[in-house]
Amino acid sequence: MAAGSLSEIEIKDLAQKTLDARSLSYSPYSKFKVGAVLLTADGSYVEGANVENASYGACICAEQTAIVKAVTTGYKSFKAIGVASSAGTFTPPCGICRQVLREFAPNIEVYMFSENGAFVMDPLTTMLPRSFGPEDLSIVPE
Ligand code: THU
Repeated sequence: MAAGSLSEIEIKDLAQKTLDARSLSYSPYSKFKVGAVLLTADGSYVEGANVENASYGACICAEQTAIVKAVTTGYKSFKAIGVASSAGTFTPPCGICRQVLREFAPNIEVYMFSENGAFVMDPLTTMLPRSFGPEDLSIVPE
């Protein structure tokens, strides 16, 4: 866990919104409810939750829901993301979600909240070191 840039109030707000976002989950198959909330650079919050599918491979993670909602409503700059699950323990984003976050926010702070609002925070740079991003495409030969 590293020291983050959010104020205590921002962390408390993010914790509450993230824990609440679990209720938006559609997860009849795994029964594992995940909430993810993005804090945008301008201080807005964008909620997401996992949306499952009878064709299991089509399940969409909470973090991806939040990113897609945010980007398609005009937000592409983010300070932090909160993640919480019905397990009530610290739930880390899966590998695909780390890559999805990396596209828009390589330095985003990832707050993983437990049931009582306690958290661990890792910068995405730690969770996805030496990551592939848009700038790497420029060195691909034609
Ligand atoms: N899930 C997420 O929403 N985010 C993650 O980073 C890990 C997994 C969801 C996908 C699926 O609906 C359920 O949790 C069980 O894997």
